[in-house]
This record gives sequence, structure tokens and C-alpha cells, in this order.
Amino acid sequence: MPHSSNLVAIYPGSFDPLTNGHLDLIERARAICGHLVVAILSNEDKKPAFTASERVEMVREAVADSGFKKVVVDSFDGLLVDYAAARGASMIVRGIRAISDYEYEMQMTLMNRRLRPEIETVFLIPNEAYSFLSSRIVKEVFRLGGNVSGLVPPAVEMRLRNRIHERSDC
Ligand code: PNS
Repeated sequence: MPHSSNLVAIYPGSFDPLTNGHLDLIERARAICGHLVVAILSNEDKKPAFTASERVEMVREAVADSGFKKVVVDSFDGLLVDYAAARGASMIVRGIRAISDYEYEMQMTLMNRRLRPEIETVFLIPNEAYSFLSSRIVKEVFRLGGNVSGLVPPAVEMRLRNRIHERSDC
């Protein structure tokens, strides 16, 4: 695929926490744009297990460890398309794991298109090894004592371990 060096893309999400499926998507998105912004929704109403700054730190660490260049990690509040426009992005990247993701993604895409038609959303499919993986399921399995190694970066696993010891509601 041709590399568009001027294209700024946004990969938004909650990343609570980052999984290897997200990292796979970051790598794929990087291959098709010149500059990628991983945008972490800071909205505390969702009662995340990790604060926005913890999630930003986790993603920054993993991106640096993976050696991905031209990837910026930031947090945002408010409308995604307004944040994307402020960052000069013309593309939103989302991952689709299974058909069950499609309805929610279509709703968001069409609403975002209505708000800012100039910003296109593209969908990437992660490696099939991660098609069952979600942050929610990682937290649940980890909390119940299951093994999540290979599903999240080691640094995330360590933070999960610390967080689960501190709290019982994540
Ligand atoms: O990883 P997630 O939780 O599925 O990501 C959802 C996210 C952050 C992409 C979505 O909730 C979002 O864009 N929120 C920002 C608020 C917004 O723009 N809402 C209108 C989009 S329909």
C-alpha cells in the first residue's frame, strides 16, 4: 500500500487498558499514514480502571518499546471529530474484530461523518489471534486469576496486578 506521508490519522479509544490487539492496530495504522495520533478518551464517567494519564503513560511506554515512530499519544475530551480537526487529522482509524462490532462502529462513523464530512473513518482488522480480545475481558479474566500474558504488554500486566490489589471494582 502506498505510504501517504502527509496524512494524519487518529486512532481513538478508551484503552482501559491497552491490549496487544490495540498495539497490532497501531502498527497497521502506522503503515498507511505519515503520522498517527493515538487519542485516549479521558471521560471519567465511564469509571475507567486507569486514569487518563495512566492510560497515556501505558500506551506511550508500549509504543516506545515496540519502536513505532511517528506515533503520538494524547488524551481528549468532548467530540472526537473536533479533536481530530484540531490535530489536523483527516482520518479516523478503528478496529473491527467481528460482525458484532459493526453496528456500534457504523453508528459512530455516520454520526462523525454528519458532524464533519471531511474526516473519513477507515476500519482495520487486527490479527486473528486477537479477534476475541477486549480490554473488558482482559480485566475480568485478570481479576478472576486467569493468565493474560501474551494478551497485553508486560508493563500493562504489571499495572493490572497493582490495580487489582488496590481496588476490587475494576
Ligand atoms: O474503545 P472505545 O471505548 O470503543 O472507544 C469509543 C470512542 C472513544 C471512540 C468514542 O466513545 C468517542 O469517540 N467518544 C468521544 C465522544 C464523541 O465524539 N461522541 C460522538 C461519536 S458518535
